[in-house]
Amino acid sequence: MLQRPRRNRKSEVIRQMVQETHVSAANLIFPLFIVDGENQKTEVASMPGIFRYSIDNLLREVESCMNLGLKSFDLFPNINDDFKDKYATESYREESLYLRAIRAVKKEFPEACVITDVAMDPYSSDGHDGIVENGEILNDETLEVLGKMALAHARSGADIIAPSDMMDGRVGYIRKTLDDAGFTNVSIMSYSAKYASAFYGPFRDALNSAPKFGDKKTYQMNPANQREALIEANLDELEGADFLMVKPALAYLDVIKLIKDNTELPVAAYNVSGEYAMIKAAAQNGWLNEQRATMEVLTSIRRAGATAILTYHAKEVLLNKWL
Ligand code: PBG
Repeated sequence: MLQRPRRNRKSEVIRQMVQETHVSAANLIFPLFIVDGENQKTEVASMPGIFRYSIDNLLREVESCMNLGLKSFDLFPNINDDFKDKYATESYREESLYLRAIRAVKKEFPEACVITDVAMDPYSSDGHDGIVENGEILNDETLEVLGKMALAHARSGADIIAPSDMMDGRVGYIRKTLDDAGFTNVSIMSYSAKYASAFYGPFRDALNSAPKFGDKKTYQMNPANQREALIEANLDELEGADFLMVKPALAYLDVIKLIKDNTELPVAAYNVSGEYAMIKAAAQNGWLNEQRATMEVLTSIRRAGATAILTYHAKEVLLNKWL
């Protein structure tokens, strides 16, 4: 045998020498849930180890992450039902929980990268990502709301705006809105290929944001489709996106790879709540090795081509020195 691939696996030093993919702190983005009030820190039942923080505690959590070298955060608000309406007006109210949180984090940690979620669902009394009329999700009318929301985030200090709603044309609309207001330096990380997935369940528990009727299949993609992701990614690139995201990650590694092979832009992937919950539940039962399973998942997402990974594992990976 001229080729014996096992020679390159014979020692730890050689195995590391030929390792093709690495995960580093710089690749990780930590999603954080925010609630109103003071001194709040409540665990999400379906996401062990993940909490909803009031702003005071959010700042302490960001600080402890920063000290670990974890410097990018994606914020998500849990909004009290009293503040929800059909048009998600709370999403751009100056004194809203979310805008206060962005300002507080950027004030105390100017060097942190704050990514903000642009979508109506946490603020919508219908629990949908768009304006609902007679059971239909309106596209173009929703863009106006998204534009207001994105502008409010930019004014509050957001570094990257991440539209997660899957309305057509929203990246171009948001880019123009930001540019017209002088925010040419605010980036857009688009949820380009976001699938209508069962893996968002725990997230909707965390935010109390499940749709009040129906599902999200008229805007989120069919899990059976791969090529359609290219249509979405190409449009977002043409409309001015800085990052193209695939979501979920683990069940869509082929989509990450496909988009990576078809763009020069950095690709991001969202290792979503249900993917996190699966590992936690199995680990709590002693059914798999948590460290190894977590690192294998994150490495596979990098291997598929994602530069940035949004993951609830981000902090524990650094805290436990799993890298
Ligand atoms: C909604 C949004 C969702 C997630 C991020 N933004 C869920 C949904 O579409 O219902 C899911 C994240 C996760 O499951 O971790 N705009």
